[in-house]
Formats: sequence, structure tokens, C-alpha cells
Amino acid sequence: MVATTMDQLVSLCKRRGFIFQNADIYGGMQGVYDYGPLGVELKNNLKAAWWRSMVYERDDVEGLDAAILTNRKVLKYSGHEDTFSDPMTDCRKCKGRFRADHIKDGKCPNCGSTDLTEPRPFNLMFKTQVGPVESDENLAYLRPETAQAIFTQFKNVVDSTSRKLPFGIAQIGKSFRNEITPRNFIFRVREFEQAELEFFVNPGEDEKWHEHWKEARVQWWEEQGLPREHINIYKTPDADLAHYAKACYDIEYQFPHGMEELEGIANRRDYDLGNHTKNQEEFQLEAHCHENKDSTTKLAIMDDNNKWIIPFVVEPSMGVDRGVLAVLTEAYTEEDLGEGNSRIVLKLKKHLAPIKVAVIPLKKNNEQIMAKCHEIKNNLLKLGIGRVALENTGNIGKAYRRHDEVGTPLCVTVDFETIEQQPETVTIRDRDTMEQHRVAVADLPRYLKEYFL
Ligand code: GLY
Repeated sequence: MVATTMDQLVSLCKRRGFIFQNADIYGGMQGVYDYGPLGVELKNNLKAAWWRSMVYERDDVEGLDAAILTNRKVLKYSGHEDTFSDPMTDCRKCKGRFRADHIKDGKCPNCGSTDLTEPRPFNLMFKTQVGPVESDENLAYLRPETAQAIFTQFKNVVDSTSRKLPFGIAQIGKSFRNEITPRNFIFRVREFEQAELEFFVNPGEDEKWHEHWKEARVQWWEEQGLPREHINIYKTPDADLAHYAKACYDIEYQFPHGMEELEGIANRRDYDLGNHTKNQEEFQLEAHCHENKDSTTKLAIMDDNNKWIIPFVVEPSMGVDRGVLAVLTEAYTEEDLGEGNSRIVLKLKKHLAPIKVAVIPLKKNNEQIMAKCHEIKNNLLKLGIGRVALENTGNIGKAYRRHDEVGTPLCVTVDFETIEQQPETVTIRDRDTMEQHRVAVADLPRYLKEYFL
């Protein structure tokens, strides 16, 4: 099989309305992308699959949707103000600024000069002001990870749900990092979406749960269409661990630009809940904590022996945009159909496909056929299978090709036989096999329910 290139994906995404450069008409903003009509559907479907597996299919996870604007104190005590930085080097000649680990052979990647500064830390968080007065007191951040609000709301969730360990809190949402060198399309960007689970466990059970989540998450990615042979598990060396982590696995995927991180699964021990807790000295914390003079609350839970403890946490943290890029990479296929014909087909898993069914009239603007198309579309929508699209282009061959390219699993074609003969029938065409067969209109709901649900 020929490997998919980034150029093929970027071209398809723009041509078919999956992903656009942000502010394209003004020359774009680096590291910021917008999801178009089909991209929003694909991304929503991936997020829904994650939410379903993390929240609905489990009995030990609650959801959360917290604010993006983040109180400075949260990121002070989380350690992000001090440590969430990349080392950067400036080129004195061209004034370019680069991540120190991206400098090769001591030369500026832009102009080749060797007149470079020593690396200096550059904090990746976006600052903003809350309220009309610009002052240190009003400084806030756009969150660099969704996780922190899960920690700061830990007590409220426990009190309102009566949860006992082990249990988790799941959240999907935007995060922001002022990446020095955004690159590789939607892989390394400045505004991105995360799907994070913080799974709270008894101290001492963290390593067992870390292994559990590594296996569970690889299996989930396989269910999204990524074959095991394109996935690698990388254990982060101790020297490279994030400031909060005791251990971390990266689930890596074979992206067009190389084997890179798709999801991190960190053992964050009691670092975060401990750091946000008042009177930490009452607890036996494993991690070194900042003294916290500002927190009003102990982020603790009662164990089976009626003793207050600060739980450990295991965190599967997925990059949603990276997930979209991975499933697109895997699904993109160019097929030789023989006799000089070829097609591009996006072999997405059907639950991820942006459009589930395209209802296509054989003849454009024919009133009777169009009326039947509308009726069928409206009936199919009631099944709750996702987006059903109605075409009125009149060129059946082109419609099939377009829906192959955007990954629509089934096309339903309404023709003269549909409206002239009883019982009414339509043609169903399968995206992957291109095979067609006729199905009675009355049987369509049952047929599609079985296919999709
Ligand atoms: N919450 C982990 C991360 O954002 O990398």
C-alpha cells in the first residue's frame, strides 16, 4: 500500500471542505486552522466516539465542561507558570527564533548563520486580561491543558456525585499553546482540542491503572481504524517527563511526517491535587508540592477506612486534531480502477464518516423524483444515524466520486423505477465495494439501522 502524503491530505481537506487555514483571505495565521462543513462533522464524530467510550460505556466516569479562561493562581500552583516552557534560541543575524532542539549542527534553520544565542526558556501559555484594567492582578491565561479545571473542580464533583475511588472525570475542549514552530498541518498548532480523562485511584494502585489505560486506549484507536502495526508505544525516559509526571506512555501513530505522539498517558501521581490543596502537610504526599497559601479547599476523598487521602491520577490525554489527522491518513486511498480510471476514496469507519447516507436523484430538478428524495431523507433523519445529505446535481457519476472522496459509506439513488413501480425501490451503493443493489423504500429504515447502529 502506498503511504499517504501530507500534501494529499492538505489538498483533499481544502478541496472538499474538511479543514481550512484560519484567516486565509488575509494570508493566514500560522498554527491556527478552521474546520469546514465536513471537518466539523468528522471531528464531532471522533469526539462523540471518545465520550461514548469514556463516559457512557463506563460506570465510573463523570463529564465536565469547564471554562477556557483560567485564573492565574491555578497555573501558578500547577507549576505551569514556572516550568511550561520550551528552550529557545535566537538568530542574531536574521532575528528568527527557534526551538533549541530544532537547531541542527549549530546553524540557524532560516539563514544558516552560526551566530546564535544560548537557549532561553520561553513560556508557552497565552496571557490575557480579564476586565477593563490592564494590571498584574487582572492577568489570566488561556488554558494550556483542560486537565487543570478537572483538578480544581475535583471536590465539587465528588460532593455532587458521591463518587468513591477509583473514578474519573472526562472533558473535551480547546487548549492553547504558543508553539514556537507550529508545523505539519494540524499536528502541531497553537489552538487545539484535547479529550482528557483524569482517572483518580488509590495511591499504590496507580501503576496498575497506568497499564490498564495504555491497553484500553490502544484498543480504542484500533476501533477508530488505526491498525496496530501503525501504532507504537513509547515510554518517556525519566529525564524527559513533564514536571508533574512519574511515568508516561505516548501512543504514537505513523503520521505522514513520521511516527509521532497521538495521545499521552501519564501517571500524574498526587502532584496536581496535592499542589491545589490547602494545609498539604496534613497529608502524606509523594510529590514535592509548592506551599499553597491561596487554596481554600482540601482536594481529598475519604478512603474505605474513613481516612482522608489525596488520590493519585492516571491521565489518558488525546489530541483531537491529531486524531482527525490520523484517521484521515489511514482512510485516504487512491484506487486504480483499470482502463485509465482511478478514484480517491476515504475509507473512514462508518461511525466517523461526516455524511452517513447521500440521497441522490438520478435526474436533476425532476419534481417527482426530488419529492421522493426529500421524503426519504426526512425519514432517514429520524433514525438518528447522523447526517443524511440530499444531492441535486444531476450527475450520478460525479456524485458517487464526490461521496467516495469524503467517505460517505452509502449512496441511495432515486430513479424512475422508484416512482413508477410498486413496491417502491431504490439503489444502494456501497462506498468500498462500489456494489449496488435494490432495496424496497419501506425496508430502508431497518436496513440502515442494522448497518449503522
Ligand atoms: N494534560 C496533558 C497535556 O496537556 O499534555
